[in-house]
Amino acid sequence: MHIGCPKEIKPQEFRVGLTPNATHEAVVHGHTVTVETGAGIGAGFTDEDYTAAGANIARTAADVFATADMIVKVKEPQPLERKMLREGQILFTYLHLAPDPDQTRDLMASGATCIAYETVTDDRGGLPLLAPMSEVAGRLAPQVGAWTLQKANGGRGVLMGGVPGVGPAQVVVIGGGVVGTHAARIAAGMGADVTVLDRSLPRLRYLDDVFGGTFKTSYASAGNTIDLARTADMIIGAVLIPGAAAPKLISRAQLADLKPGAALVDVAIDQGGCFETSKATTHQDPIYEVDGIMHYCVANMPGAVARTSTIALGNATMPFMLALADKGWRQACKDDPHLLNGLNVHTGAVTYAAVGNALGLEVMTPSDALKA
Ligand SMILES: NC(=O)c1ccc[n+]([C@@H]2O[C@H](COP(=O)([O-])OP(=O)(O)OC[C@H]3O[C@@H](n4cnc5c(N)ncnc54)[C@H](O)[C@@H]3O)[C@@H](O)[C@H]2O)c1
Repeated sequence: MHIGCPKEIKPQEFRVGLTPNATHEAVVHGHTVTVETGAGIGAGFTDEDYTAAGANIARTAADVFATADMIVKVKEPQPLERKMLREGQILFTYLHLAPDPDQTRDLMASGATCIAYETVTDDRGGLPLLAPMSEVAGRLAPQVGAWTLQKANGGRGVLMGGVPGVGPAQVVVIGGGVVGTHAARIAAGMGADVTVLDRSLPRLRYLDDVFGGTFKTSYASAGNTIDLARTADMIIGAVLIPGAAAPKLISRAQLADLKPGAALVDVAIDQGGCFETSKATTHQDPIYEVDGIMHYCVANMPGAVARTSTIALGNATMPFMLALADKGWRQACKDDPHLLNGLNVHTGAVTYAAVGNALGLEVMTPSDALKA
């Protein structure tokens, strides 16, 4: 198969769909790989790294799209890129179609077969191509929170680990899933005193079993949440209710109960945020203050560490990318129902029920798509 990887053109996107290592594996499997010049530069990969891995370098995205049987990307295709897709071509990338009727319409019009990272599943009910980005955002949260807590940034002026004779920062993590667990581990590793709140007792039991000596757990009733929030120097919002907007767990009025200069890091901002006063910010201007409380609400946190994020995403996508290239999309999806769950659009039809329902479009079942 001919695999193509264009440079990402969405503003502030520095990741790239294929790493040199993934390129090398595809070449070893007998495939041809074409990478747009400069595609990896934001993640620290040069054209020479790709050439050494066996790729051809194309001068323009148009050259990549014109020759590739499968396009591998990171972000949803932008309008310019959508125009270059064609019938029979496979698109493998994040799509997030439910809130995006324009993109959905263009992908349907292209006739391409579009497989979305975010809806590929695994045996444990997880989302294996979203998890690496949650791991990154979780591990980054205490790091950016610690910076926000510094006096010059408007914070309380509290050091995460304290020093001998001075106690550590109190960190409360709301939501003990992928983001919350990684955030809690890193905050504890920095020496902070950490408590994780969750509404799921099985999850709290798991966290207590595995991390009992590293951080504490607490049930996320409204009462517990505000009691712990009052004592916190940093609160990390990491809740998720699948398919729904994040619940608001700290209201504006409750900010008055928090310690002045406390840092709220709302990782759940991409689902609307779990603090009433959260609004999405960018890496250029990541923090703002409301009623004396500092907020960090960057919606694409993994972009700050594009190299780590690219490699982590590449590790997760590689087996699926290779299966699609080795077998073709139809056989690969027949063999792996989890990959079939990633199928969102095929030859002009939406094939993912939640997208069809959200946009009021008729849905072709994935099993019909396999026959079409
Ligand atoms: N800002 C970013 O760059 C970025 C990056 C990755 C993920 N995210 C977001 O981070 C959030 C968490 O993602 P995840 O992968 O950890 O999800 P997850 O499903 O692994 O974990 C979510 C946890 O929240 C818990 N929860 C749900 N409602 C709760 C409540 N009211 N109180 C306490 N706990 C509650 C669930 O029981 C679950 O354990 C999501 O909104 C995700 O979109 C943001």
